[in-house]
Amino acid sequence: MASAALRNPKVTVVGAGNVGATLAQRIAYRNLAHVVLIDIIEGRPQGLALDLRESQPIEPGSYSITGTNDYADTANSDVVVVTAGLPRKPGMSRDDLVQTNGKIVIDVVRRAIAVSPQARFIIVTNPLDVMAYLAWRVSDLPSHRVMGMAGILDSARFRSFIAEALRVPAQDVQTMVLGGHGDLMVPLLSHTTVSGIPVEQLLEAAALERLVERTRNGGAEVVNHLKTGGAFYAPAASAAVMVEAIVRDRARLLPLSAHLDGQYGLSDVFLGVPCRLGCAGIEAILELQLADREQSALAASARSVQQTLQAALPLLERHPAVA
Ligand code: NAI
Ligand code: 2OP
Repeated sequence: MASAALRNPKVTVVGAGNVGATLAQRIAYRNLAHVVLIDIIEGRPQGLALDLRESQPIEPGSYSITGTNDYADTANSDVVVVTAGLPRKPGMSRDDLVQTNGKIVIDVVRRAIAVSPQARFIIVTNPLDVMAYLAWRVSDLPSHRVMGMAGILDSARFRSFIAEALRVPAQDVQTMVLGGHGDLMVPLLSHTTVSGIPVEQLLEAAALERLVERTRNGGAEVVNHLKTGGAFYAPAASAAVMVEAIVRDRARLLPLSAHLDGQYGLSDVFLGVPCRLGCAGIEAILELQLADREQSALAASARSVQQTLQAALPLLERHPAVA
């Protein structure tokens, strides 16, 4: 099949904080697309973009890098990545952020889609699955063009912990972490292998359980070290994988937060599931055969996301979908 890689792609990153700035850097250094960094703080995106442009003699790239506070500069973006919002503070759950970040995500999606009606939206802001749902509803886009980034990050964390335990390169570990980006995420032991060998043949059940728990707490572990702010290198690297899959039409098979409409027996919720991601956005949702305990864990995770969503839905009544 011919590739539909985008010609002259343009990617807007909303939020020039730790994740957004690092993502802009990755997009620029990998020469993936023109990148526009936008934030409400005056001067910050402009300064970061200037700094990135000044690195182009060393990290050559042919695309432009712009920093702005004006959505007009984001017009005709192919991809909009939303990282705007507050990160967690120590002791705070992702769900505590729902009201504040819900208002921000609704506002930025409305502004961004007004000037980029063809864009695919990648949501990063937490609580992730709820923010992706709000973005989908307020944008009124077909669900394949709105998705959340979390599963790639959670899977990368699980892979890195397994690799550390077995003292093998992390690239040799394959897995998928599904479900919501929260304490009930579902690392799929039944689909975890190390160079093709089922992980359960290499690690004791108790050791594996410890790594599963560490993965579920992966974000908090970083927050507890940093004290202010959350993880951003691995999150930005994960979002860059999604940007690349879209702009280069890679048809990657990745865990993404996607709108479910009956898949896995779940409906009207965004949840991490395996998806094929290419130029059009989510081209397919794959339904894996899960172990019974994994299927129940996925349903429990969906219930938890839906519960948080209830607190966010009134925000949509105050800010109806873009006409
Ligand atoms: P940060 O505080 O470093 O950056 C957030 C940026 O958003 C700030 O520069 C702020 O000025 C900007 N912002 C706030 N309101 C805005 C608006 N209305 N329009 C434009 N920009 C606005 O935070 P960080 O570490 O970059 O994290 C960003 C978000 O991503 C947080 O909600 C965090 O929890 C989430 N996150 C999600 C991950 C995931 O796996 N889905 C992983 C890591 C972070
Ligand atoms: C993380 O997992 C905070 O969701 C963010 O690092």
